[in-house]
Amino acid sequence: MPHDVPAGRRLRRLAVQTLDGNWARGHTVPSRQLYPHQWSWDAAFIAIGLAHYAPERAWHDLRALFAGQWADGRVPHIVFDASVAEADYFPGPAFWRAPSPPAMPGGATTGLVQPPVHAVAAWEVYARDRSAAALGHLGWLYPRLVAQQEYLLGRRNAGGAGLPAIVHPWESGLDNSPAWDAPLTEVPVDEDLLRRYARQDLRRAHAEHRPTDVDYCRYIHIAETYRDSGYADGAGDPAGLADRHPFVVECPNFVALTAAAERALAAIARVLDADPAPHLDRAAALTAALVDRLYDPVNATFHALDVRTGKLSPARCVNGLTPLILPDLPEPAVRAILAEGASPRFGWPTAGRGLPLPSHDRTAPDFDPVRYWRGPSWININWLLWRGLRTHGRHDLAAALRAAMLGLIDREGCFEYYHPDTGQGVGAAAFSWTAALALDLLAEPAPVGSGG
Ligand code: SER
Repeated sequence: MPHDVPAGRRLRRLAVQTLDGNWARGHTVPSRQLYPHQWSWDAAFIAIGLAHYAPERAWHDLRALFAGQWADGRVPHIVFDASVAEADYFPGPAFWRAPSPPAMPGGATTGLVQPPVHAVAAWEVYARDRSAAALGHLGWLYPRLVAQQEYLLGRRNAGGAGLPAIVHPWESGLDNSPAWDAPLTEVPVDEDLLRRYARQDLRRAHAEHRPTDVDYCRYIHIAETYRDSGYADGAGDPAGLADRHPFVVECPNFVALTAAAERALAAIARVLDADPAPHLDRAAALTAALVDRLYDPVNATFHALDVRTGKLSPARCVNGLTPLILPDLPEPAVRAILAEGASPRFGWPTAGRGLPLPSHDRTAPDFDPVRYWRGPSWININWLLWRGLRTHGRHDLAAALRAAMLGLIDREGCFEYYHPDTGQGVGAAAFSWTAALALDLLAEPAPVGSGG
């Protein structure tokens, strides 16, 4: 078990080797096998792990990502490595045709975003590295992190209630989650797109572990629509986005992470002698609107909201549980998440037994234990839940979840995701955020007597 000292050492060595092996010309890639560029929310989770043994590289990774920030404040979901061939990843720079970021002349990015975990990451790295250089990095990042939030809270306020909307399933990070099935039903499936463009992921991964061709037809259609609009979110008219664009959704995980970012920015502001108050106000407003709009008191869980139709998605996915990271979540919602986690739909591990939570309701007819975000267990989401459990004083459940994650990674290796019943590693091997978050979990001393 990884909480033994020798097992802990072995796992730490594996995690460090994984991260070192994924360092590629100035940034860490999520996986050499499948994702050969720099990804946005991956970079944040990776920095949290690097902070434990290579903090300078953690800062470097975050700064490399923010070099790709657009003039409007958006932080792209991929910053492309110019030395990787176009044919090695789809959709690459030639598909996106995005403007070069001001700080990266000639550089290429996508025009989408991903959940803003970066302020939390910067704060976590600073917690482990309080050097003068670290303070300099924090000062460099702060205005950029603020601009990132302003973009999301302004131009992406498509629903008018102050919540950031996503305009593509890829923006959620949970690409093929059943949470998007209802909003995607009206998006056309043009199979010609897969004759024009070749999927690269299927050359490197099992088709049954990945989104389907139908999913990809829709992903390409939505991305082309957004690209051909000039990546316009409607400055001054964000509400118009829902009329013009085929996919406009508020995701509880994305929103909760946006609120968590404001809390981290308040902490960063204090260190930098800036004013934390506006960040705390925004965090409180985000939590209130999240509960008001995305919490369903009948089902007692959070759901994604389709801004175009005004309907909540009926699917019960793990993005309904991660609002637990918010310390100001009202008590009834906290209780509901704890109950949802304990139900047969998910199932918290208990001391010495059980596996991390799946990404989708185990009892749903469309639960698929190996297909990406339609069932498998992901370490980043379970890491967020672990933090949420500790935030709300559930140290027993947190310790068991931590032990379940470490035990799984120690047994299987640093996989992209895991079969939620057998624990078998699925997707890409040597996956960076699994390694990074293992380092963070290992650093946390287990409470005495928890067994975890
Ligand atoms: N996660 C997507 C992929 O699989 C895009 O970010 O490539």
